[in-house]
Amino acid sequence: MTTALARFDRWIRNEFVEHNTKLEEAYFAERREVLDGRPELDRIKRALVAEGDHLIGGILAEDALPVPEREKYQLLGMVGYHLAACRRHESAAADAAALSAAWSLALRLGSSLGVAPRFVFAHQAMYNPAVGGRFQTFTSLEDEAVFLTNNGLGVFAYQRAAAAVHRITAIGVSSPFSGHLLEAARVALDEVLRFNQVLANSLDVDRFFFNVRPYFKSHRVGNAEYRGVNAGDFSAINELDVLLGLTSLRDPFYQNVLTEKYAYVTPEDQTRLRAIGSEEPLLAQFLREAEAAPNPQLTRNAQLFLDVCRAHGAAYTYHHHKLVLPFLVEPAKTAPPGRLSALTSSGPPLDVVVSGLSHLADLRSARDRPGKPSARHSLDRLRELISVHPGDDHRAPLTSSAE
Ligand code: HEM
Repeated sequence: MTTALARFDRWIRNEFVEHNTKLEEAYFAERREVLDGRPELDRIKRALVAEGDHLIGGILAEDALPVPEREKYQLLGMVGYHLAACRRHESAAADAAALSAAWSLALRLGSSLGVAPRFVFAHQAMYNPAVGGRFQTFTSLEDEAVFLTNNGLGVFAYQRAAAAVHRITAIGVSSPFSGHLLEAARVALDEVLRFNQVLANSLDVDRFFFNVRPYFKSHRVGNAEYRGVNAGDFSAINELDVLLGLTSLRDPFYQNVLTEKYAYVTPEDQTRLRAIGSEEPLLAQFLREAEAAPNPQLTRNAQLFLDVCRAHGAAYTYHHHKLVLPFLVEPAKTAPPGRLSALTSSGPPLDVVVSGLSHLADLRSARDRPGKPSARHSLDRLRELISVHPGDDHRAPLTSSAE
């Protein structure tokens, strides 16, 4: 017997995608974010709302929600896709009555998992089960797949970098093993940059602006409005920031970044976010050991550490200058004034979001800005301390000093 959940899953992968794609092609033909009052398009919008509502109502009626946390989280993502598409098409029919089944199921799943009752970035990458080689998408447009794939690959690479850096806390910064781990972290961060470059070079600016980004907007679930999706809703990047020593929880701006994303990450990332700041940052450890007892292994590792910091800054500065500015800020300049307020996913006006992102880019690249916290001075001090061993080549085999 086919369950209501299986029927919903099949619909999300088929008719849902067809409806959205037809609407997107019509909008794109006129380079408009949305079109209203066109009978043939309004029919599709109504079908999307009604079919989703009917199928989700079926899941509630069966009252057989999945028990494993992962499956609950995946179902939340699917219900969230439906809600996000209704919001994206600004469907007149998508009022409280038509969405009440989806709201009810999303709220139930969200409160059981302790997360925002909407789809988030993790539903598109880490929790997006593929069937027959295809993961769930809103449309069958190539640009959506390009965007999701490179975003996801970038986040997985950030997670690899964070995992490597974490392991150093148990063995110390002068361990020969730490050199290997730092090298692994630097390679992973170079990959983040590479995926961002592929994205910047293959994503079409107009397709992203008109047909991909609008699904990521804030929307209501029940009585509350939940902010939209962004690819930054995972903890690894923040684990790296703080553990490397480039940012600090004592900085109210940065503390706010962490607190704000808490409800929008996966349950396991919530645990990781809570643990941030519980270990001494590597930069502080390197400084302490370099002041007290410099040695060749420490010097080599410190040079590798500086490479990791450089790679982290480079990847994020690229995000700012080659993704945020050309794919969002530039096209926004020609958007009708009435639509500007809905451009960012977090809700504040675009210039406020962009200035926050620029501040993060400064922190991650340790740029010295008067009156603002920066790791620049400490990194320069470390560089000075390790330059007492100018003959050391940090790319020499790391096993040499352990022999
Ligand atoms: C066309 C591609 C992209 C655009 C236009 C873009 C734009 C943005 C914007 C506007 C925000 C702020 C969201 C808000 O508060 O409203 C943001 C946040 C963020 N994005 Fe992207 N992004 C893109 C791709 C990526 C990719 C591929 C990654 C990572 C691999 C990424 C990582 C982040 C991170 C980590 C944040 C959260 C802020 C932070 O902690 O740094 N983004 N992005």
